[in-house]
Amino acid sequence: MREQIGPASSLSGDIQLPGDKGISHRYGMLAAIAEGTSKIANYSTGADCQSTLGCMRALGAEIENKDGIVSIHGRGLDGLREPTGMLDAGNSGSTIRMLSGILAAQRFTSRIGGDESLSRRPMDRIMRPLAEMGASIEARENRFPPLTIRGSNLRPIDYTLPMASAQVKSCVLLAGLYAEGRTTVHEPVRTRDHTELALREFGAEVECQRRSISVTGRPRLLARDLQVPGDLSSAAFFLVAALLVPGSALAIHGVGLNPTRSALLDFLSEMGAPIKVLDVQQAGGELIGDVLIRNAPVRGGVLDKARTAALIDEIPVLAILGAASEEGLTVRDASELRVKETDRIATVAENFRRMGLSIEVAEDGFQVPGRQKFHAAELDSFGDHRIAMAFSVAALAADGPSIVEGAESASVSFPEFFDTLHRIAR
Ligand code: S3P
Repeated sequence: MREQIGPASSLSGDIQLPGDKGISHRYGMLAAIAEGTSKIANYSTGADCQSTLGCMRALGAEIENKDGIVSIHGRGLDGLREPTGMLDAGNSGSTIRMLSGILAAQRFTSRIGGDESLSRRPMDRIMRPLAEMGASIEARENRFPPLTIRGSNLRPIDYTLPMASAQVKSCVLLAGLYAEGRTTVHEPVRTRDHTELALREFGAEVECQRRSISVTGRPRLLARDLQVPGDLSSAAFFLVAALLVPGSALAIHGVGLNPTRSALLDFLSEMGAPIKVLDVQQAGGELIGDVLIRNAPVRGGVLDKARTAALIDEIPVLAILGAASEEGLTVRDASELRVKETDRIATVAENFRRMGLSIEVAEDGFQVPGRQKFHAAELDSFGDHRIAMAFSVAALAADGPSIVEGAESASVSFPEFFDTLHRIAR
């Protein structure tokens, strides 16, 4: 699908976001292995989270979606059934990596794969710890999907993550639910803690000490009624849009404000963005609030180390803000961007080139000079939802109408994105 996006003279209005993608995956998986029926409000409408529900259905969980509430009839820790065919994770790295932790402990063999993009993403990062726990996993070229996972009795491990990855941490903790004793993961930097919070909500015993997280195996997981906060990573597109287009003012409601995710708001505020957070409440261990933003010039800045890891999904759209900022944006320690849905350093750089924007690319990051002019262009999502949305936002600040080719990719995390964008743009 080709989406035409004209320059905007201002953005204003109220925005509701789809449920957080990461939290939806975790609630979907845990509810399916809990006892009883969980009702989940604001479960993400994105294709990725529907892939997780599809896999849990194929593993025997009954799931209904009515009036915006997803009801999941859990089968208990040992109640999943052998699927009849290959489990389809679609485009979703979270689905394949986290679910593999559960599949590794089943009494049956499963096969799980996904689309072309997912088939190029590295899985050795989960295969190594799961093998240490006693699982047997085969992969294409020993590291790519599809995976054949022969479940077995897992043993607990003490695992030091070689990279900052919440997906790998979560995979090991979910496998740890099935191992007798305590499974511990040590992280190089703190990553999003949605799995830890969700595990506690469903009744597991989780202990966190600095960057070490332990789960006790064989808990009794019980169904819960939960509300998924709005996705802060989806809010990022509108926050940046408001900062690019003069005269803009937006109110984004019910946004997830988990401290392991909200570095985005701190970074934008540090750059001079006028952001207000109101009505903060707690739900299911997660924080939710409203975020107000007004247009103002921003300084730019540097992202590295732990902050790069904390903002990894927001970096494509922050690159665009960097080009409009006063001093530009430097990003380092971001080699993980190379193994996302696309090589996001390469796909950002290619769309920059098309808009006549300069960017200096390194193996693990880039440098974008500030005060640049955005030229209308034929842009491409390259099949990556965050690239589709980031460059639709860039198009709002261009000198004429732009085209975003492959715009339908946005529906991987945010099917309502273009409707929302057209509603708030003038
Ligand atoms: C996610 C973790 C991050 C992130 C992804 C979702 C999660 O991936 O990029 O969009 O929900 O745990 P990594 O753990 O591979 O860094």
